[in-house]
Amino acid sequence: MTEKDIFQNKNYLRDQQYKDSSNLDARANLHRLYSTSPLEWHRWVFAQLDLQPGMTVLECGCGPGWLWRNNLDQIPENCQITLSDFSDGMVAEAAAALADTGHDFRFQTVNIEAIPFADDSFDIVVANHMLYHVPNLAAGLAEVRRVLKENGRFYTATNGADHMRELKELALQFAPESTQFEWPQLTFRLENGRSLLSPPFAHIDLLPYEDSLEVTEVEPLMAYIQSMTLLQVIGRAEETASPERTEGTVAILNQLRAYLTQEIAKNGSFHITKNSGLFTAY
Ligand SMILES: C[S@@+](CC[C@H](N)C(=O)[O-])C[C@H]1O[C@@H](n2cnc3c(N)ncnc32)[C@H](O)[C@@H]1O
Repeated sequence: MTEKDIFQNKNYLRDQQYKDSSNLDARANLHRLYSTSPLEWHRWVFAQLDLQPGMTVLECGCGPGWLWRNNLDQIPENCQITLSDFSDGMVAEAAAALADTGHDFRFQTVNIEAIPFADDSFDIVVANHMLYHVPNLAAGLAEVRRVLKENGRFYTATNGADHMRELKELALQFAPESTQFEWPQLTFRLENGRSLLSPPFAHIDLLPYEDSLEVTEVEPLMAYIQSMTLLQVIGRAEETASPERTEGTVAILNQLRAYLTQEIAKNGSFHITKNSGLFTAY
């Protein structure tokens, strides 16, 4: 698989990487366990939305619905919230988790490049950590602008170029053939998001999320690595979709596990840089 396929091949993303939340969950688990920020990511994002009673909201690329599941106690009255994703599995998980919560949640399988809702439908559209998966970003952003009301706001989170940079260093150290592959650069990232959002938006703000990871156990980090990053950069993305590992991959993972165990024993933790933030566009 090429670098572009890793991040933007619709079949790989929808039918393997995001067919359900297991890969995403392995990565989220590392953040849940070892983030140094006092405010959990989805709680922080929700606090920025300034959601008011009666608002209509669309989330694109909702995954298993964590933004809402982690903030049920904060949702104002009478909001109508549509959760959408192009993976049926993700939509089903979000729907199962948010049934019977007393809020007006709706669920639909939607590709952001062709949103099946009328113009001027939503006060808020959210698309977190997903625009870098969209091959026709201009079409996706035009669709978001179209379904937003005149004074509506678009919130979109992404990462900066050096987010989790220690994983790149590990890949280069333990999988030398990964140098044959360009380290995947997100197409929509903190550094270029402002220019990509304008047009269609006139005003764009960026709020950084201050955080890092201090990882004190090896296995959650190994699970993260196997969910995407390292397997992808060494050209073995297919192996993220199954528990089967080729001999070469097993050897690399064993060396990596031994190294990380040693580092954590020596230093008390393994430090990982984070660089994420939230754009508001209107
Ligand atoms: C990294 S996950 C983020 C999930 C969620 N927004 C969050 O922040 O927890 C990316 C999600 O975007 C979805 N996705 C990718 N491309 C998409 C597209 N073109 N249209 C809609 N959803 C898409 C994937 O299926 C996946 O659930």
